[in-house]
Amino acid sequence: MRDRNLVELVGIHKAFGDNVVLDGVDLSVTRGEVIVIAGPSGSGKSTMLRCVNGLETVDSGEVRFDGRPVTPGKGLSALRAQIGFVFQQFHLFPHMTVLQNITLAPVKVKGIAADTARTTAHQLLERVGIAEKAEQFPADLSGGQQQRVAIARALAMDPQLMLFDEPTSALDPEMIREVLDVMRDLARDGMTMLVVTHEMGFAREVCDRLVFIDGGQIVEEGPPAEFFANAQSERAREFVDKIIHH
Ligand SMILES: Nc1ncnc2c1ncn2[C@@H]1O[C@H](COP(=O)(O)OP(=O)(O)OP(=O)(O)O)[C@@H](O)[C@H]1O
Ligand SMILES: [Mg+2]
Repeated sequence: MRDRNLVELVGIHKAFGDNVVLDGVDLSVTRGEVIVIAGPSGSGKSTMLRCVNGLETVDSGEVRFDGRPVTPGKGLSALRAQIGFVFQQFHLFPHMTVLQNITLAPVKVKGIAADTARTTAHQLLERVGIAEKAEQFPADLSGGQQQRVAIARALAMDPQLMLFDEPTSALDPEMIREVLDVMRDLARDGMTMLVVTHEMGFAREVCDRLVFIDGGQIVEEGPPAEFFANAQSERAREFVDKIIHH
């Protein structure tokens, strides 16, 4: 069913010991939707993303991807193959070339022929603007280039959903733009994206919906322009003030 929500979080709760991290989160994500998740440090943003692809299990409530519950065990690796995850620290394999980094999972997990995977990898490197880096090792690339490799690697699995957890937070300012540009293009091409970021310019310009989370709850959500112009809650207004006047 094409019109079904791609992701649904239904009343999810998650605690680590006494620390309640997600406290009843509901969120539906339609195909092609780009959502920015913002909120203070420790508010549960990363945990929420990790629940979506089953890196964390929920204590109660349900996570559904493409209509199917995300639960531990059988089926989880098949599910993860459909979800790309890009982290703050790029997590490339240091002993592999850029090309090897990108072709590894398609060949090993999806059984795609090596030469087909290489052709796709070259196309993806072109798309993220670093076609000439295929034979280099990650350590020889700038942070922004490494992050673009990480994005290409995720895209090589032909995912239905891309999760980004502060993808530009570890980058020097001049490299942030090049990564955000790739993400913007991806959004324009129709990718469904959940993006945790402090880049509010990106949020304002690219996302369909901004979700503000604090204390493990979605405090506010809506079109980014509305959020910045007149956040309803005190907590969201404080957050906007801090971000804009930092
Ligand atoms: N594996 C874990 N074990 C124990 N506590 C954890 C674990 N992962 C996260 N936490 C705790 O859960 C809370 C929320 O963490 P989370 O990483 O989701 O927040 P965040 O909103 O992503 O914060 P930041 O903006 O700093 O990345 C924090 O108090 C954190 O210490
Ligand atoms: Mg985080």
